[in-house]
Amino acid sequence: MPPAVITPRRVVSVIGTRPNFMKMAPIMRLLDADAGFEHTVVHTGQHYDRAMSEVFLEQLGVGTPEHMLDVGSGTHAVQTARVMERIEPLLQRLAPDLVLVPGDVNSTLAAALVASKLGIPIGHVEAGLRSFDRTMPEETNRVLTDQMADLLFTHSPEAKGHLLREGRDGDHIHYVGNTMIDTLVAMRERITEIDAASRLGLETGSYLVVTLHRPALVDGPLLGAAAQALDDVAREIPVVFPIHPRTRRNMVDAAIDTERVRLVDPMPYLEFLSLVSGARGVLTDSGGIQEETTYLGVPCFTLRANTERPVTCATGTNVLLGLDPAMIATIPSRLARGDGSGAIPALWDGRAADRLLDVLRALDDYATLRVPRERGASCANAVP
Ligand code: UD1
Repeated sequence: MPPAVITPRRVVSVIGTRPNFMKMAPIMRLLDADAGFEHTVVHTGQHYDRAMSEVFLEQLGVGTPEHMLDVGSGTHAVQTARVMERIEPLLQRLAPDLVLVPGDVNSTLAAALVASKLGIPIGHVEAGLRSFDRTMPEETNRVLTDQMADLLFTHSPEAKGHLLREGRDGDHIHYVGNTMIDTLVAMRERITEIDAASRLGLETGSYLVVTLHRPALVDGPLLGAAAQALDDVAREIPVVFPIHPRTRRNMVDAAIDTERVRLVDPMPYLEFLSLVSGARGVLTDSGGIQEETTYLGVPCFTLRANTERPVTCATGTNVLLGLDPAMIATIPSRLARGDGSGAIPALWDGRAADRLLDVLRALDDYATLRVPRERGASCANAVP
């Protein structure tokens, strides 16, 4: 008997912003290498500068996305709507069996909304994170994407409880671990080789790396106060600040002595992680960096009122400072007394994408994920 011909499952990965690339790269690589899948990558173009996008894709070795939607910047509504308008005909044409969306950016929500309405099963990578802060656009994106997703891939234990409380079924939830850490593990040797600190004339273990880009901090008066506080801290500890375009744009009026605080352009992945690996500490408002510092054992101070990644505080090296630039002044003394030590959370081991692929391989028919569920409820007033 001739061997049965197995039709590969068509999977579309949607990426759009810098952190998406690190979360999806290990999954994309495994999908590309597996004859059981026909894999297509769609880049929304939410991040479009070479330094924010292309350089990352090159370093991560994931090739050029087959489709580029070029949505660019805009208000939340404009950006989300552009992704929706441009991805709908593409998904109709590609007719995938599954769409994978990572994280919590506008591209994530937009792609999920379109896939959901087209009846295409959705896998959400990094499901179930919650800051419980609805003033953050990312929280809206996460909650709504998780409501639409059929496969919820989680990276920390508390995510499952959040999803169950929001009415998701347990058998849709798969605790696979952290795919962003997979990328870090895979690139560790190259990161070490780069030695970004000495390239910048910094001594390993002596300096503070800063990244700030969230609207709550950089789109208003807090940025000026943060810049002033950084300027003060830089008298005690060298400060290097790879600056996001949003922050750069708003930095114009901020009082900062660029002799003392080293403002540098956004750095490529390997260089940035090398810089972080050699740091005394990190000050950030990013989500991903809270995780990467935890893995690397580098103290992380998060300038936010909350975090959707509490495992980085409970287990890892993260200290939540609050959304208060005045707290920046406390960093040198906190470092001196050893704040920000921790361990690596479970399943942040470099194998999360393998576990995710195991889930995809084990499922016979993705379409069944979308079949309405029998909840066991009876309709008391139904006409017999
Ligand atoms: C987005 C995500 C945020 C994520 C961050 C990672 C949303 C709601 N926010 O924020 O969750 O942490 O990406 O970086 O999706 N710009 C450039 N070049 C680029 C991209 C942006 O100059 O390649 C500038 C533009 O002025 C743009 C601004 O940065 O208006 C903000 O970009 P946008 O994609 O809207 O949001 P981010 O702040 O990057």
